[in-house]
Amino acid sequence: MSNYNIKHLEEYFKVYRKSVREPEVFWEEIAEEHFLWRKKWDNVLSWDFKKPEIKWYAGAKLNITENCIDRHLRTRGEKTAILFEPNNPNEKAEHITYNQLSKKVNQFANVLKDQGIKKGDRVCIYLPMIPELVISLLACARIGAIHSVVFAGFSSTALSTRINDSDCKIVITSDGSYRGRKTINLKEIVDEGLEVCKGVHTVLVVKRINSEIKMLKGRDKWLQPLLNNASDECEPEIMDSEDALFILYTSGSTGKPKGMVHTIAGYMVYTAYTFKNMFQYKEEDVYWCTADIGWITGHSYIVYGPLANGATTVMFEGIPSFPDYGRFWKIIEKHKINQFYTAPTAIRAFAKQNLKFVENYNLSSLKVIGSVGEPINEEAWHWYNDNIGKKKSPIIDTWWQTETGGIMISPIPYVTPTIPTYATLPFIGIQPALMDDEGNELIGNQVEGKLCVKFPWPSIARTIWGNHRRYKETYFSTFRNKYFTGDGALRDATGYYRITGRVDDVIIVSGHNLGTAPIEDAINEHPAVAESAIVGIPHDIKGNALYGYVILKEIGESRNHENLRKEINQIITEHIGPIAKLEKVQFLSGLPKTRSGKIMRRILRKIANNDVNNLGDTSTLLNPEIVKEIIQGVM
Ligand code: WT7
Repeated sequence: MSNYNIKHLEEYFKVYRKSVREPEVFWEEIAEEHFLWRKKWDNVLSWDFKKPEIKWYAGAKLNITENCIDRHLRTRGEKTAILFEPNNPNEKAEHITYNQLSKKVNQFANVLKDQGIKKGDRVCIYLPMIPELVISLLACARIGAIHSVVFAGFSSTALSTRINDSDCKIVITSDGSYRGRKTINLKEIVDEGLEVCKGVHTVLVVKRINSEIKMLKGRDKWLQPLLNNASDECEPEIMDSEDALFILYTSGSTGKPKGMVHTIAGYMVYTAYTFKNMFQYKEEDVYWCTADIGWITGHSYIVYGPLANGATTVMFEGIPSFPDYGRFWKIIEKHKINQFYTAPTAIRAFAKQNLKFVENYNLSSLKVIGSVGEPINEEAWHWYNDNIGKKKSPIIDTWWQTETGGIMISPIPYVTPTIPTYATLPFIGIQPALMDDEGNELIGNQVEGKLCVKFPWPSIARTIWGNHRRYKETYFSTFRNKYFTGDGALRDATGYYRITGRVDDVIIVSGHNLGTAPIEDAINEHPAVAESAIVGIPHDIKGNALYGYVILKEIGESRNHENLRKEINQIITEHIGPIAKLEKVQFLSGLPKTRSGKIMRRILRKIANNDVNNLGDTSTLLNPEIVKEIIQGVM
């Protein structure tokens, strides 16, 4: 018998040891006992981090929607699968049962087929947090199409880059979306983006805000009439374990976004197993993750992990501050949420508000509260623990990444004792390693270094879409034979891990990964700008904010700097989205560069963070005089 649900610390250690000593035996038992396979695998695992090539359950056949939907119908057909809470608190919540979900997914799958979508085709999904979003993911999976969800807060340029990179044939969107008091005309953004996407032949449009929109003849189709005419039965496509399930883009430190490719079987097994344990999910529980499905957290822990366990998963269309900062807590009371999973940036925003927003509501249903996306600072941890968990629901600080597919280092609630700001122990099957800069693994406890993983786990991304070489370079070339995460971490005297933050040029703003290079590229598009460099500075709520150093083409540019700042932020909004706007902009005559022409970001980072007395070695600078100018500008 496999240990599908770990209930105490000795059991964790026992199972962990087994998963490391005999990973194949371990993951074979989990897969065999808890999932539905059309054909079993020939080989549990084959891997080579040098190529890199990783295969789990090779030779197996399955469809993930049979695991997430069909197999529950006999025992849980009338159980709520998706509980939809609309933006407007006066609009009724919608309960979609597993029986209903099955029909809706099959209808949608048939519509996709009618539109010519086949196994292996890429489907771009650009939707707000409405049920059609979950349904469209599953409909793709039903017919073996590869979904590529683009967060509906991204700009038209960000959207078109992603559509073209993976050559999507179809886009699923809506007329618009609700965000608090605002409405956003999503379809307009799509129209703009598609001007440069020649491969898209069809746009399916969900009606959500009933706005007047333009429909391009031959290309754009309202979804509802097509669904009405579609059969609610659709045989699942039988897929190979290593076929792609989806592509999800994440920012790198340089270049265009990376389309991380996740494959079916390993992703399913790992997200399901982590979901069960991380949230200690019980059959009657109602689980809520506040992430957007446009991010990996939503893919793994709103959609696939919960549904593979037959859970009730809440999806919320709105924002934390509408109609006021009590909304989350009101939802918890209303739906008697048992497990709640959110981000530090949201927690910090709540902590700034009057406590009455929390105290007005009954949160006694909560059993587990989670955090994800960036390091949670001690203050925010305590606020969360005191006011939401009421010191009785354990906080799980879950460290993972788009690339890892599922939670990697985290306490298991009611199993692992927690310490503020510590992600604590690796999950079953995960073998972390801390490395020094010379490439040596740091053995033993009380060490700090770069965080790697030295053995594959089932849900590791298999490649970057269309660019396997970049996959190898980014993740497998820094340290020999190890997956490098891009994060730093320490291991304390008891073996607990604490993530210390990114060690590359990725800055996490409100939980969103932003690479410095694409933002700099956007700024440089401004006709008056010669060059720019972005660094992170601490921010009370967002965790980090962006500080931009901008060099103008003409020194003493006559235009008002205030206007230039606005124009620069406007360009960033168009290219990337409002999330990447600069908090502060400093205009300079030059950037500190080494003799080889590399920007010394360390100096820029320190000065922006007011740490000017300790700039380190500046002897390799080509233009040391610039340092004084930068400092004067900050003061
Ligand atoms: C990066 C990955 C995991 C889904 C959402 C983010 C940071 C994530 C934590 C945590 C400290 C964290 C890391 C990581 N991060 N969770 N609990 N403690 N840092 O996915 O957008 O791919 O970002 O987020 O720096 O590398 P992502």
